[in-house]
Amino acid sequence: MDKSVMNIGICGAGTVAGGLVGLLKKNQQLIAARIGHPIEIVQIGSRNVPKQPVFDGIAFTDNIFEVAENPKVDVLVELIGGTDDALALVGTALRAGKSVVTANKALIAEHGQELFQLSDQVGQQLAFEASVAGSIPIIKVLRESLAGNEIEAVVGIINGTTNFILSQMSKPGSSVSFGQALAEAQRLGYAEADPTFDVEGLDAAHKLTILSAIAFGTRLRFDAIYTQGIQEIQLEDIRFAAELGYRLRHLGVTRIQEAGIELRVHPTLLDEKEMLAQVDDVMNAVMVMSDAASQTLYYGPGAGAGPTASSVLSDLIDISRGATMPVMGFLPGETRAIPALPIGQCQTSFYLRLRVADRPGVLSRITRILGDYEISIEALLQKDPEQGIATIVITTDTVVEERMDATIDKLESSTDVLEAVIKIRIFSFGG
Ligand code: HSE
Repeated sequence: MDKSVMNIGICGAGTVAGGLVGLLKKNQQLIAARIGHPIEIVQIGSRNVPKQPVFDGIAFTDNIFEVAENPKVDVLVELIGGTDDALALVGTALRAGKSVVTANKALIAEHGQELFQLSDQVGQQLAFEASVAGSIPIIKVLRESLAGNEIEAVVGIINGTTNFILSQMSKPGSSVSFGQALAEAQRLGYAEADPTFDVEGLDAAHKLTILSAIAFGTRLRFDAIYTQGIQEIQLEDIRFAAELGYRLRHLGVTRIQEAGIELRVHPTLLDEKEMLAQVDDVMNAVMVMSDAASQTLYYGPGAGAGPTASSVLSDLIDISRGATMPVMGFLPGETRAIPALPIGQCQTSFYLRLRVADRPGVLSRITRILGDYEISIEALLQKDPEQGIATIVITTDTVVEERMDATIDKLESSTDVLEAVIKIRIFSFGG
């Protein structure tokens, strides 16, 4: 690379690309003062002609591969999203001797292993800070700032859309349903027209895949993530849980246990006093538990033009400074083969909601079933029966999930229990 300038090519001309171009223009002098030379945009590639005025005057091509092979480009910024074309594009750029910066979590989570191998072979960098939690520098934190620690757990709100929806549903006195909150998120531009990736948890699963691999030094294991979205969440459970002092959030959890690593993304109840429980609207936050630094929390906007561009630009600055480090935080030969724990073997506490027949002895029969399975009850709430049906809410002590599921099967087979039992996991930082 000519050290008097860093030439970049950008593929993609959407929100984040616009944010990056705007930021590079706005902070041009600041960046040059920090790295010793300017960052110049040589070419933009996109299938669609860029609409934002910020792109005016920059050479454009509708052939993204032309950017990846452009001899003037030192670093390719991949912002096209998706996996198939992005994989081919990043591979082409690396083989053409360019480093790559990407914001693409699906690409890294699903194809990172092969891409890192390729970047090693060709001696180029592949950087991806913007792929997880937008502006929050959580990749750097895990890979660099906490490099001297044994990481014990990473727990985070890593999808702004789901957090916005759950925050709307959780406001005191709220009567906003999932569908209404989703419609509001779409109206405000937080949720996509097709919100599947966000609400079904896949976006968070991609991000957790990356966080877990860096935290624990394993391979990227997207297929091992247990993924549950928020589309089934009912307002009454949010209300009952609030009565018991809990708030509902959609969490990614990766935690090391004796038998392996938990990898799970699902709606989770948190004690309302926990800091993560205070994270509202579209904000993201990631809590890291480690042996020396203890609990540290990182908070910020997880999406949007400026916040995502900030992380893309920090990777460009790292590359221009010649920063080199193991891309996943561990040397390639040091990858650890710690098994991923199936969800049934994860340990947690639970919230259960049961609809039961309103007749004598029901409560004692239900609590006996829980006792038979050695499940300890933490709290119990019974609502006024209506038309012969009572609602019972139970929170439990920590139990391995497959035992909880067997207990629920037993409860549901009883004639006292009239509907499928609702189960929501509770996360406690104590265990
Ligand atoms: N759609 C994501 C979110 C941002 O709602 O957090 C990009 O991953």
